[in-house]
Amino acid sequence: MFDALKEKPADKILALGQAFREDPRETKIDLGVGVYKTPEGVTPVMRAVKAAEKQLWEAETTKAYTALAGEPAFADAMIALVLGDAVARDQVSAIATPGGTGAVRQAFDLVKMANPGGRVFVSDPTWPNHLSILAHMGIEVVMYRYFDPETVGVDFTGMMADLDGLRAGDVVLLHGCCHNPTGANLNMTEWRAVVDLLNARGALPMIDIAYQGFGDGLEADAAAVRFVAENCPEMLIAASCSKNFGIYRERTGILMAVAQDKSLQKVTQGNLAYLNRQNYSFPPDHGARLVTMVLTDPALRADWQSELEDVRLGMLKLRETLAAELQRLSGSDRFGFVAQHRGMFSRLGATPEQVERLRAEHAIYMIGDSRINIAGLNARTVPILAKAMIEVGV
Ligand code: LMR
Repeated sequence: MFDALKEKPADKILALGQAFREDPRETKIDLGVGVYKTPEGVTPVMRAVKAAEKQLWEAETTKAYTALAGEPAFADAMIALVLGDAVARDQVSAIATPGGTGAVRQAFDLVKMANPGGRVFVSDPTWPNHLSILAHMGIEVVMYRYFDPETVGVDFTGMMADLDGLRAGDVVLLHGCCHNPTGANLNMTEWRAVVDLLNARGALPMIDIAYQGFGDGLEADAAAVRFVAENCPEMLIAASCSKNFGIYRERTGILMAVAQDKSLQKVTQGNLAYLNRQNYSFPPDHGARLVTMVLTDPALRADWQSELEDVRLGMLKLRETLAAELQRLSGSDRFGFVAQHRGMFSRLGATPEQVERLRAEHAIYMIGDSRINIAGLNARTVPILAKAMIEVGV
């Protein structure tokens, strides 16, 4: 049977990581996969998470199964973190999932059950794995314009023109904050216009929020998702705890389905739990439990928020330094967008050839579309990147 299998294309982000590890050059710089790193290049366990782990080790008495949807306390804590008081708790159905990717996958599964012929509109560009999962599931994808390479910002006119083709029951995948891969985000006026259009067409917003706290702050980064929850009859939210809690390998995420009509909550919740059962039974619990402890213990939460804020401000500082260095070397303001973008990523606007030269000649690794992970930089490497960019003609 296995001889019928065909080679699968390598995931571009993960393949780049492999190539980086195999590169023997000591000067190499990794700006690839979206994992936070300190200036020393370490991805730390956050202090509050470490403290929660200690407490958990003392307190945990069983590893018996948790609930099919995950622990209710995790759902409560995460719904409060993402949605604040935008909607009532009984408007939200939720399941814990293995990471944000698990939530995205389960969301598409739910869409497929509810509306088998439904299309999913996806920003051009988007996180490549969105497209890969949709293709794997045989769901029709429609790309909408999102990024303008000229302004290196959002092509809002193009986006709205493409979303004009929405039909009732279509799903529109949006990034809640810190757009991956571009770093360019909608402002609240634009979100308002998108919501009006989706409501007029009867389309369902699905928000992937994987970087809450990495852009303008925990609350500010949730403003769009809360606005959508308040103003759309229904929505899906795939949230990740990988980045903002730094628990990548624990696979901790949550899928939420929000409905203005509370009578839909029971059947939606049942369907979500059913999906967990079909795909992997019980979701992983360790990371979810740590997140719950951090969010519900005032001291742990305060420490987590303060460390997360340091991470965010550190990335902002790197953005500003890189933009300034590029301004100095190029004598132009054309790189000002680096400081304007938000989150972990920026798309620099380099051609694939320039990206390849940066790798081959300067040992600088970025995704082929010129997405960089800002957190892969530090005070020493910012000038190296800026000089190399100018040298290859970006
Ligand atoms: C990324 O975009 O680099 C991250 O979301 C990690 C991943 O799984 O691709």
